[in-house]
Amino acid sequence: MSEATIPVVTIDGPAGSGKGTIAIQLAKQLGYHYLGSGTLYRILALYKLQRLREVDNLQALLDECEPLRIVFKPMQEEGVVQVLVDDEDVSDALRTEECAKEASQLAVRPQVREALLKKQLGFRMTPGLVAEGRDMGTVVFPDAGHKIYLTASAEERARRRQKQLRKQGISATLDRLLAEIRARDSLDKERPVSPLRPAADAVRVDSTDLSIVQVVEHIAALVQR
Ligand code: DC
Repeated sequence: MSEATIPVVTIDGPAGSGKGTIAIQLAKQLGYHYLGSGTLYRILALYKLQRLREVDNLQALLDECEPLRIVFKPMQEEGVVQVLVDDEDVSDALRTEECAKEASQLAVRPQVREALLKKQLGFRMTPGLVAEGRDMGTVVFPDAGHKIYLTASAEERARRRQKQLRKQGISATLDRLLAEIRARDSLDKERPVSPLRPAADAVRVDSTDLSIVQVVEHIAALVQR
């Protein structure tokens, strides 16, 4: 099967829309590979934070990260993957706010997006791929057979984030989380390179009033139709 004929399902959408969990579960259900593209930006960010003194320019950082072997390993818990970089589990380190912030700054650099493009295309392997992020359907896999744009109201996304933080023993007010989500939405939508927007041929799915299982079933039905 040539690379271009390997099926791809793209799921793009804002932070908190549930696309990570949903893409992982959908990939499992379809027996496809999974790509969480935000994780690639976070891995670069982690390297930058860890090696700040050794890597003095962006190209050196990109060159250092180019050969890294990145694996998304499905875990027992539904909708969860472990992220292995050259066999080292970096899942926890990638989740920090510091890493998220650095990743969002790197994500606006065209040089970074160009370097990660090749890496992302490499995840297109038989029997298929579910790729989630911000520009999967618009830039990285424009020829994908199925494109989903997953949304949820900002209020609902803030509530989900609060629940997630509570599980980690962190308390945060809804007002603060809502403000953070709105700020991140505008950053993602207004940046000049690969802004977050639905592909012209994407199907919009609003997850505000739906459970994860309902969204996965809905998308699986669209893909298998
Ligand atoms: O989804 P996430 O929070 O793990 O993404 C981390 C950062 O990377 C976030 O600022 C958005 C950015 N990103 C991007 O620009 N393009 C993608 N395809 C995926 C993520």
